[in-house]
Amino acid sequence: MDTTTSRGRDVAYQLHPFTNLGRHESEGPLVIARGKGVYVYDESGREYLEALAGLWCTALGFGENRLAEAAFRQLSRLPYYHQFGGKANDVAITLAERLVKLMPVPMSKVFFNNSGSEANESAVKLVWYYNNAKGRPRKKKIIARQRAYHGTTMVAASLTGLAASHRDFDLPIPQVRHTDCPYFYRYARPGESEEQFATRLAENLDAQIQREDPETVAAFIAEPVMGAGGVIVPPATYFEKIQAVLRTHDVLMIADEVICGFGRTGRMFGCETFGITPDIMTMAKAITSGYLPLSATVISEEIYRACVGQSEKLGVFAHGYTYTGHPAACAVALEVLDIFEERDLLGHVRRVGPILQDGVRKFAGHPLVGDVRGVGLVAGMELVPDKPGRGTFDPPGKAGALFVARAQANGLIVRNLQDTVALCPPLIISEGEIDELLRKFAKALEETAEELGRR
Ligand SMILES: Cc1ncc(COP(=O)(O)O)c(C=O)c1O
Repeated sequence: MDTTTSRGRDVAYQLHPFTNLGRHESEGPLVIARGKGVYVYDESGREYLEALAGLWCTALGFGENRLAEAAFRQLSRLPYYHQFGGKANDVAITLAERLVKLMPVPMSKVFFNNSGSEANESAVKLVWYYNNAKGRPRKKKIIARQRAYHGTTMVAASLTGLAASHRDFDLPIPQVRHTDCPYFYRYARPGESEEQFATRLAENLDAQIQREDPETVAAFIAEPVMGAGGVIVPPATYFEKIQAVLRTHDVLMIADEVICGFGRTGRMFGCETFGITPDIMTMAKAITSGYLPLSATVISEEIYRACVGQSEKLGVFAHGYTYTGHPAACAVALEVLDIFEERDLLGHVRRVGPILQDGVRKFAGHPLVGDVRGVGLVAGMELVPDKPGRGTFDPPGKAGALFVARAQANGLIVRNLQDTVALCPPLIISEGEIDELLRKFAKALEETAEELGRR
């Protein structure tokens, strides 16, 4: 089979995630060869403003030499050392200490993994271990939400509430349940306020836990702002009401901070922005600005103590990866934290975030735009075929895909999430670059509308 693409690249040697593989063989990927600041360049040298920070990752932008140098220094001094069987490396220890001090609620220990999926996988394993330690072997179910995205490994994909992540992969696993998605634009009833919607969802969760039997429900997992599900910002009072239900039934709260963590919402963690008090927090992506793979599962003292007790009983805590606490990744993460402080990145996000948010909301009146939502430096604009009726495109994703193509032709990279166009630029983006992003975005919207005959 000839798999040389129209862009001249042979795609035969990789299975590309979240891609229509059949169509991909004929069209091929956009091949990126280098990056600087908020820009990336393809093989022919064409420039694109990367308005999704890769995959919601490169908070400090591309080509940040301090991160490359931190990795180089660490690789020269100690390129690898593990954390198994009573050994450790000094950088992982330093990073763990610094992360625990950064946590918005009292936390005790950090477990390092290599990806967001693994961080969530570890979170679930630790919840199960904890409940076994507490003599509650039935309390094992995890409730996630429809449209959630928590990754693609077996447990993480099960937690994910998107059909494509389950279908024909024989998932979800039996211990996982899904509950309502707090998607006000689509799922609120006519006339319902955000607060009333939040109350209804919390009541539904309460009823669901009671139906399942609270003795069998161990944890609830949530992204503060849902990313891949369509940039869904929780309605007012949502987490406050959900957490009250969880407390009633002694159900742990896991906050998946993989996208929101490290400044995205204008605070260090999304939990701070939305008043979440988690028992476990998972984080990845911006922890190294995406420069090296690293994630963390941070747990409370109570969970840690139960793990200690259980490992004494069993003789070993048998969880971990060869690359847990990889020194080069940890060194990069420490440098990221230094840069956050030195450049007051949180202050920067709070200053420029409103410029992006106001700018995108200016498109709210466009006939193709149903909803615009976001916080800090993450935003979503939902395209609809009929503004008053809030219908969906057939096939779903059609308009968003067109938008992505038009944006790309105009030198802007955004992501289509079932007709919601997502923006999540590097946090270092300047006001001038936000203006450029919005200009290109406006052009892509006009061209998309023209192609769909909807100007
Ligand atoms: C909220 C959230 N959790 C988990 C993941 C999974 O992370 P990874 O792809 O590193 O496994 C992602 C990835 O986009 C994510 O957005």
